[in-house]
Amino acid sequence: MGALLEVERLDVRFATPEGEVSAVNDVGFSIAEGEMLGIVGESGAGKSQIFMALMGLLARNGRASGSVRFRGSEMLGLEPAALNRIRGARLSMIFQDPMTSLNPYLTVERQLTEVLVTHRAMSRREARREAVAMLESVQIPEAGRRIDLYPHEFSGGMRQRAMIAMALLCRPELLIADEPTTALDVTIQAQILELIRKLGETSHTAVALITHDLGVIAGLCDRVIVMYAGRIVETGPVRDIFRNPQHPYTAGLLASMPRLDIAEGRRLQTIAGQPPNLQRLPPGCAFNDRCPHAFARCVAERPLLTPVGAGRSKACHLERL
Ligand SMILES: Nc1ncnc2c1ncn2[C@@H]1O[C@H](COP(=O)(O)OP(=O)(O)OP(=O)(O)O)[C@@H](O)[C@H]1O
Ligand code: SF4
Ligand SMILES: [Mg+2]
Repeated sequence: MGALLEVERLDVRFATPEGEVSAVNDVGFSIAEGEMLGIVGESGAGKSQIFMALMGLLARNGRASGSVRFRGSEMLGLEPAALNRIRGARLSMIFQDPMTSLNPYLTVERQLTEVLVTHRAMSRREARREAVAMLESVQIPEAGRRIDLYPHEFSGGMRQRAMIAMALLCRPELLIADEPTTALDVTIQAQILELIRKLGETSHTAVALITHDLGVIAGLCDRVIVMYAGRIVETGPVRDIFRNPQHPYTAGLLASMPRLDIAEGRRLQTIAGQPPNLQRLPPGCAFNDRCPHAFARCVAERPLLTPVGAGRSKACHLERL
């Protein structure tokens, strides 16, 4: 089975008055058809910019280099018209900020039915019926009436759900979900994650799920990529990484994760310190000033991402954690 998405040597840089920001550094991974991949890391790790780059949506001061192929075709540097043929129908993204994808001047109905009419050749009536059903499944109350409103007449949480509905309606080959549920309350979160999982199963949609929450990844994803300071520091099958993390940063994330299966009263640990300034990345390992295992080599030499067993890689000088 060929890869659906192949990312190689991806760099994303932003020009700022204070110097260049290295947001994404030499990132490479692939997603197979129907696969669920989780991307986790602290705020500023570069998770969103990987996908903004491949969607052709970097801020004006940003520049991407490397290669991103979708079903074998290069996406970086494509003209907007060519990108638009892929975006929406075959590849859709749920953004952290819903207003990135909702048009304030069109009713929710227009925006939801548009994709069905243009990409799935439905009549307006059929499309409306399907859109209302999808709004109901993302828990928008009175969807049949609310569909005729404009985005600004929705609450923040409802806007996010409308955007999720829009992304799911296209039944894309790849769904990129960037913190899809952070603004929502816990029960709705669970329902939406379940919807995404079902879409994966029934439509064979591959999902790239970006989140701070390792718990979400545990329940949903096959593989995980852990990012730190714009680089992949560990990757592998979710079960293996949860059972036996090999990078100190991953171990730190796991120790700071609330878990139901561990006796109450256990103190959650947090990773002390802050991620480095991306304008002045230190030589050596970017995690060295926060790492409890750091030794001399970690300051002098940057660890490369290296295979460490079946489907697993890590970027750390320690032989074993
Ligand atoms: N237009 C820009 N100009 C300068 N720096 C930027 C710009 N856009 C993003 N960055 C920087 O790029 C880095 C990576 O950002 P990114 O949005 O990918 O982080 P993230 O991992 O998605 O974090 P979060 O979890 O907070 O969403 C951050 O340090 C951010 O400040
Ligand atoms: S390379 Fe060194 S500093 Fe970096 S994570 Fe591994 S042990 Fe820690
Ligand atoms: Mg982000």
